[in-house]
Amino acid sequence: MDGVTDAAMRAYLGSWGVFSYAVSEFARVSVEPLPAKVFRRDIPEICNNGKTTTGMPVQVQILGSDLDNMAKSARTAVDCGATGIDINFGCPAPVVNRHDGGASLLRCPPRVRDVVHAVRQAVPNEIPVSAKLRLGWDDIDAIFENAEMAVAGGASWITIHARTKVQGYQPPVYWPHIGEVRKRVGVPVVANGDIWNLDDFRRCRDESGCQNFMIGRGALANPHLAHQIAKELGLPYSSSSSKVEWDKAMTSFVRFSDEVGMPRDVILMRLKQWSKIAKLYGDFSAFDEVKHATTIEEFFVNLTPKAKRPMALIAFQSELQSVQSCR
Ligand SMILES: Cc1cc2nc3c(=O)[nH]c(=O)nc-3n(C[C@H](O)[C@H](O)[C@H](O)COP(=O)(O)O)c2cc1C
Repeated sequence: MDGVTDAAMRAYLGSWGVFSYAVSEFARVSVEPLPAKVFRRDIPEICNNGKTTTGMPVQVQILGSDLDNMAKSARTAVDCGATGIDINFGCPAPVVNRHDGGASLLRCPPRVRDVVHAVRQAVPNEIPVSAKLRLGWDDIDAIFENAEMAVAGGASWITIHARTKVQGYQPPVYWPHIGEVRKRVGVPVVANGDIWNLDDFRRCRDESGCQNFMIGRGALANPHLAHQIAKELGLPYSSSSSKVEWDKAMTSFVRFSDEVGMPRDVILMRLKQWSKIAKLYGDFSAFDEVKHATTIEEFFVNLTPKAKRPMALIAFQSELQSVQSCR
């Protein structure tokens, strides 16, 4: 998720040991192919066999429509060490769509095919090339042709966020449409959109018939959810389903951010973004206390109930000192 799941967040999420893989934030390809330094900076996992320091594989996601530039960018990413390429046909941001990227290609399905084909041709056969789709621009039934075209272009699998671009993030999500696509195409289909809890997961699974699922906001809003789903799928999991300990989760994220050398102001921004998602969609209740924090230390003090604050500050500072002395 652009602006949220950066390398530090991916390392943290990977530490849960529960995700099969993650997809990077999109790298936008416009008038020129992306240089190696952009991939190495934004997706450092490519220098670590395509995995986070915590062992989770990461697909490199690119977004754009120029066939030559997309192909060359994908090739560069692979030459740098990317082990999989995902192509974004879902981004609804006006600035991206105005420049003919993301979901704007869904208005002309053969263009989806052509972009996937160009990228597929540019990278070795053993590198999977996947496509992330919304249903269409404004027509939920456009997914049938869009998915067919992505597969015709050579997509190894497709992920479907079951909304149109025009819907943005508004309900409903059309999980049965994902199921219909799954029956028609000969590649794995990953179901995505509005899986907030185990009941949603079960309904999504039943309505789509899928075996693979992507969770975005729900993973951050409820850190237990991915474990609960993994358990349901018969995969390894570790967390119990008790109440989320937000201070521990967020302290752990700061530790991973320090490890990848994330600047302090960016860490603070990410903490606030995460808090906002967790407040909107989870049980995080301290957003009003933390949203104006100007330092990470202040953020954690404000996260703690007033009576416990002095102890929280001491605990957090000693945590940070131990991180620094490990480096
Ligand atoms: C802030 C934000 C940033 C996102 N950035 C990306 C992105 O870079 N690439 C992508 O494929 N999807 C991106 N998405 C879409 C999500 O991957 C996902 O498809 C969508 O949020 C629906 O799934 P969810 O309900 O599990 O969050 C983004 C979503 C949000 C809210």
